[in-house]
Amino acid sequence: MIDDIRFEGSAPLQQQLYQQLSARILHQRFPPGSRLPASRLLAADLGISRNTVNAVYDQLKAEGFLQSRAGKGIFVHEDINHRRLFEQQADTSPIASAALPPLPDPRLGAPAGTLRADGKACLPFSPGLPDLEAFPIRAWNRVLHHQESRLALRGYGDFQGYRPLRQAIASYLRSSRGLRCGEHQVIITNGAQQGLSLIADVFLQPGDRVLSENPGYRGARYALERHGSTLIPVPLKQQVLDVEALTRLGPAKLLYCTPTHQYPMGGILDISQRMALVQWAMRNQTWIIEDDYDSEFHFYNKPFAAIQGMFDNAPVLYVGSFSKTLLPGLRVGYLVVPEALVEAFVWHKRISGGETPLLSQATIAEFMDSGQFSRHLRRMRQLYRDKWSHFQARVTEHLSGLVTPVAESAGMHLVLEGAFDDAEVSSKLRNLGYGSTPLSAHFIGTASRQGLVMGFASANAAQIDGCVEALASVLSAGQGRA
Ligand SMILES: Cc1ncc(COP(=O)(O)O)c(C=O)c1O
Repeated sequence: MIDDIRFEGSAPLQQQLYQQLSARILHQRFPPGSRLPASRLLAADLGISRNTVNAVYDQLKAEGFLQSRAGKGIFVHEDINHRRLFEQQADTSPIASAALPPLPDPRLGAPAGTLRADGKACLPFSPGLPDLEAFPIRAWNRVLHHQESRLALRGYGDFQGYRPLRQAIASYLRSSRGLRCGEHQVIITNGAQQGLSLIADVFLQPGDRVLSENPGYRGARYALERHGSTLIPVPLKQQVLDVEALTRLGPAKLLYCTPTHQYPMGGILDISQRMALVQWAMRNQTWIIEDDYDSEFHFYNKPFAAIQGMFDNAPVLYVGSFSKTLLPGLRVGYLVVPEALVEAFVWHKRISGGETPLLSQATIAEFMDSGQFSRHLRRMRQLYRDKWSHFQARVTEHLSGLVTPVAESAGMHLVLEGAFDDAEVSSKLRNLGYGSTPLSAHFIGTASRQGLVMGFASANAAQIDGCVEALASVLSAGQGRA
């Protein structure tokens, strides 16, 4: 009679067994006076511990469902009053008697289509995804193993971030990106995404105006409009933020941009444009959010130094991430902010997620200090340069006349522009196992350009060939024509 007891889901076994046995008694599948298996047998049959069965039997005895008969075993209570038990059950069951409390307004939740619900976040060609297989996992594991037994990493950490990691980042940013900063200005975040959300927390009130590159990075847009601010699109000119257009757009509290590799169009803001941007920001009392998400990967020239370091006291909030340089799964990024704002940022970090895991931070710090981070970057730069060339060659070979590649020699993705329904084509590629995103999805309001954002870094040579051929056949069959 217990053959059909099944355990499913995450509820504790004890709770599940209690519910199933009591339901069978209530519905008289186990009639009064019937004998239940000994706890040892039931435990063995169900593959659970005898203690669990005993605890359930004890509870059912205490509630009057079961009784023990000395030397004979456990029985369903002879005098069980089913009506009373049913009533009791109905009275005490919150599901049966009470309506759910009101749900919050769903419009305050995620915009439609933004959750990664299909389990396909890491397909080849997913923008922003590094080559996961090329990651030096053995070297990393050695460092991780070295750190993982340290007592100092087992407790709570500093909300601002593990100091040796902040020191390593500050020194790396000063020498590689030209930042003017000390470790006291660095805040470790759970990815760049948390950095952007913290900027919104510290700076924005409902109704504030925020300027944002258009097309631009959606994660920034979502973070910066979440406190009810108004997002004003800033157009691009030759694939970079149109600095001259800023004067027509009025005042704003923040301006979000990706000056060293515009996301997604790939343009690089030159030195004179950078200077004009900082001068505009000073004049207009606007803070620039400089998202420096992948500037490590410039293939032929050294990237321009970050805007943050161009002037003393430039009004810049610098956002960085280890998602491209190491792994997105680490969820570690960083902010560099003016000293006077550190406390406010750390407070908001504390109340929205708390510390970043100490072991990951300590492992990254040792990886950087030992020189392995720089070595890894050099290898990845070479690898992505080869993939970039290979991808471009295949595009020229198979997609001429169908798409126009928009490509600086940098980064981990490029855009293939064209006159087709990019959402439809992207979804077709997705069904074939390739994870591009439609260019139109990166616009605020109506999209003026169509195309595909192709993250080539995560694809191997065979996948690059396969995807280009698949795209050629989708486009030349006229599927997805706009
Ligand atoms: C423009 C831009 N900024 C930041 C990020 C990094 O985000 P995170 O560090 O949260 O993974 C990405 C990732 O794709 C990006 O494309």
